[in-house]
Amino acid sequence: MRNFIQFFLVIVMIVEHTLPFELLKSIFCPPIPRLVRIRNVSATPKTLKNSQLLVVLDFVGLVQRHGYSAEEHNVTTEDGYNLLIHRIPDSPAKVEIKKKPVVFLQHGVMASSDSWVLFGPRRDLAFLLADAGYDVWVGNIRGNTYTRSHIELSASEPEFWKFSYHEMSQYDIPAMIDYILKETEVKSLVYIGHSMGTTIIYALLSTKPEYNDKIKLIVSLAPIVYWKQPFTNLIKIIVDNTAEFENIFKKNGIWEILPQSTSVAKLVKTFCEDKAITQPACISLIFLLSGSDIAQLNTSLIPYVGSFFPAGVSLFTLSHYYQNIVTGKFQQYDFGYVENFARYAQKSSPEYDMKRITAPSILMYGQNDAISLKKNIMELENRLSNVIVSDELSYRWFTHLDFLWGSDSKMFLYDKIIELLEKYGGKN
Ligand SMILES: *[C@@H]1O[C@H](CO)[C@@H](O)[C@H](O)[C@H]1NC(C)=O
Ligand SMILES: *[C@@H]1O[C@H](CO)[C@@H](O)[C@H](O)[C@H]1NC(C)=O
Ligand SMILES: *[C@@H]1O[C@H](CO)[C@@H](O)[C@H](O)[C@H]1NC(C)=O
Repeated sequence: MRNFIQFFLVIVMIVEHTLPFELLKSIFCPPIPRLVRIRNVSATPKTLKNSQLLVVLDFVGLVQRHGYSAEEHNVTTEDGYNLLIHRIPDSPAKVEIKKKPVVFLQHGVMASSDSWVLFGPRRDLAFLLADAGYDVWVGNIRGNTYTRSHIELSASEPEFWKFSYHEMSQYDIPAMIDYILKETEVKSLVYIGHSMGTTIIYALLSTKPEYNDKIKLIVSLAPIVYWKQPFTNLIKIIVDNTAEFENIFKKNGIWEILPQSTSVAKLVKTFCEDKAITQPACISLIFLLSGSDIAQLNTSLIPYVGSFFPAGVSLFTLSHYYQNIVTGKFQQYDFGYVENFARYAQKSSPEYDMKRITAPSILMYGQNDAISLKKNIMELENRLSNVIVSDELSYRWFTHLDFLWGSDSKMFLYDKIIELLEKYGGKN
C-alpha cells in the first residue's frame, strides 16, 4: 500500500511538472462536444453507431428501459442557472396512494441524477422508493453534465464557473425545492442527500432557516460537513497538493473539472476493464479514494459507471472544501481579506450557524468510508439540535461509494432507509 502511494505521488509530480499541458487539459477539461445522450438504444439512428463520441442513455432513458415512467423538468435559479431535474412519478408496482409523499434525492460531488439509477429496479434507491409509493424527484446542481446552461452566460465563460457549493445551497436547492413543492402541491418533502448533497442542505438551512419548514426529514448519507479528523494515505496527498493544483488550473483557465466525457470514459475503460493488466491499480485507486470493499464492487461494471461518473464540478467547489479542511470549520468561501469585507462585512468568512437548523436529521455512515470519517460525523451530530437517528451501518466494509453503487446496498442500507421513512413520518 505504502509503495503504491509513493508511486502515485511520483506520478502526480510528473504530471504536474513535465506532461504537456494539453494532455492534462484533455483529461480534466476535455473539448466540446463531449458525448451524445440518447433516450432509447433500439431507436438510435444508425449514424451514431460509428460515432467517435461516447453514446449514453440519459436519466429518462435509464429509467424508461425498465418500464418505469420518468420526466424531466426545467428549473431556473434566481441567479440565472438553468437546471434540468428528473422525476420518477410512478412505479409499475402501482401503489394505491391518493397523494404520494415526495422524496428528493441530491447527488454529491462530480455526480449527477444518473448516479441514482445506473443499475435498475430492486437495486437502486430511486427505484425502490418509487416501488414503495413515493414520488421521487432527483436533483442536479449547477455545472454538472445536465446543467451547463445559464440565461446569459455560456459555460465556456469563466464567469459561469464562479460558484462553490455555497451558491448551490443558496440558489439551486431552494429553486428545486420550491419548484417541486409547487408542482406536487405538498407542503414539505423528504430530502435524501449523499456526500456534498448533505453539505448543501445544511448550508441552506443555516442561512435561510425558513426552508426548515419545507423539509419533513433529512436523510444524510455519508455526510460531509466537518473535516477535523486528519486523512490518511492518498487523500492526504491530494489535499496537501491542492493549492498547487488549483494554481495550475487557474493559470490555464480551467474552471470545470472532470465532466462526463468520451475521454474520461475511454481512459476508465482502458485502465480499468476486466482484461486490462492495470485493473488492480485502478481498483486500488478507487479504494484509496472511497474505502476498500472488494465484495461490494463488481469490477466488470467500472467502465459502465465511468461513462456516467465523474459528471463535472467547479474548481471553486473543490477549493471551498479545501478551505474547510484547512480551517476545520464549516464556513463560507474565503475570498481573502478585501473581498471578504465587501461581501461579509468582516475580514474572515462567516461560519454556517448550525443552531438555525431545526429540520430533523437521520445520519447514516459507513465504518470504512475514506472521506466521511466517524469523528467528523460525531462533530456534526453534536452540533445539530435535531438528530433523530445516527446510524453507523453494521456492515464492516461499507465505503463512500457503496452508498450509491454497492452490490448489496439494498440489503445493507436502502431497505433500512425505507423503514426509517415509514417510521419517522416520510409518508405523512
Ligand atoms: C424504443 O424504441 C423501440 C423501437 O422504436 C420501441 O419499440 C420501444 O418501445 C422504445 N422503448 C421505449 C422505452 O420507449
Ligand atoms: C428544458 O430546456 C431544454 C433546453 O432549453 C429544452 O430543450 C427542453 O425541451 C426543456 N424541457 C422541458 C420539459 O421543458
Ligand atoms: C458483474 O457484472 C457483470 C456485468 O453486468 C455480470 O455479468 C456479473 O454477473 C456480475 N457479477 C456479480 C458477481 O454480480
